Amino acid sequence: EFEFDTSAQPFELVQPDLQRMADSVRHSVSLGADHPVLNAAASYFFAKQGKRMRPTMVLLLAHAAAAPGSPATGIMDSGAAPHSDASQMRQCSEATGAEHRDSALFARQLKLAEITEMIHVASVLHDDVIDVADTRRGAASANVAFGNQLAVLAGDFLLARASMALARLRDCDVVETLSSVIEHLVCGEVLQMHHAAQQSEQASADALMQAYLSKTYFKTASLMAHSCKASIMLLDEQGSNRFPKLREAAYLYGEKLGMAFQLVDDALDFASSSTVFGKPSAGADLRAGLTTAPVLFAMERAPFIRQAMQRKYRGEGDVNAAFDAVLQFDGVPKTMQLAHAYATDAVVALCEAFPPSEYRSGLVNLANHVLQRSH
Ligand code: FPP
Ligand code: MG
Ligand code: MG
Repeated sequence: EFEFDTSAQPFELVQPDLQRMADSVRHSVSLGADHPVLNAAASYFFAKQGKRMRPTMVLLLAHAAAAPGSPATGIMDSGAAPHSDASQMRQCSEATGAEHRDSALFARQLKLAEITEMIHVASVLHDDVIDVADTRRGAASANVAFGNQLAVLAGDFLLARASMALARLRDCDVVETLSSVIEHLVCGEVLQMHHAAQQSEQASADALMQAYLSKTYFKTASLMAHSCKASIMLLDEQGSNRFPKLREAAYLYGEKLGMAFQLVDDALDFASSSTVFGKPSAGADLRAGLTTAPVLFAMERAPFIRQAMQRKYRGEGDVNAAFDAVLQFDGVPKTMQLAHAYATDAVVALCEAFPPSEYRSGLVNLANHVLQRSH
């Protein structure tokens, strides 16, 4: 079993960057909207600190790609590409460690981190309306604070602002990459709502798990995967792909860690029994009619759950019976085991392409954080 190096603190490593990002994001979402209430609703979640997973991944990858020995520094693999007139390449090769923070390239990567957080918060504003959630980040959700209509519009507004910031990066490949994510978020949400396989009596256990994993990719992993990839795409001139190994590894790191992140989230729904950090109490997914990995694992030993699943746990006693079966048949540890396997894949992909650095260690330990978190 893979041992994670837990010496580097991911969030501390990018603390100055996250601070700059927070200042900038406040600027991006609160200026120029023509209505104070829209301003208030759109900036609402930026006043509270979330986990900042996505920007932390983007920023750590930006630093890790500029570390000594990275193909992108031109030290280890100077034959990677002709780059005599590539200004970004020069910025990158000159910038190692602390200096990378001052490069024009890093300014763009920081903007990307900000855009990913804006897209995430936009999706969360809409998600809380769909889920009729009343808390988020330890406080009233925006739909409760401002009403459904303004919460939806604030999400739209954030997407508009994110699109403008994205366009200003002047890189159509990055625009396309992040735009595909917005489609994926919508697709993941619809798949969750209308799960054909879960409604069918014939679907095999394997088909049910595949459908769940595919939904999870769209809903959670795609944003992380594509944000991570885009952080490396910014190293290139538009249209070139001089560091395909870094790009692919960044994508895989984001994808696999995103899968692990959502699996842990779905496991925590059966582990936490009280309201912690704005999360509703245990069993919320079942009460919402959702079948997640812990339930699918339990179903292998408790076939009766399939009928409960098909009626979305609306039958008398369905929620309690499914919940108890998950605990009895190890749904939680099996889900955590799968999350561990994904997190390991993330770390392996990362370490195969990126040279050792404190930032890479931060990314490794971030995978550990994902597995250890309790809220
Ligand atoms: C949180 O899941 C929800 C998401 C990660 C995605 C939500 C996406 C949409 C609503 C589609 C619209 C997208 C945009 C960009 C406007 P959850 O409800 O399982 O978790 P949580 O509520 O506990 O955080
Ligand atoms: Mg929700
Ligand atoms: Mg939801």
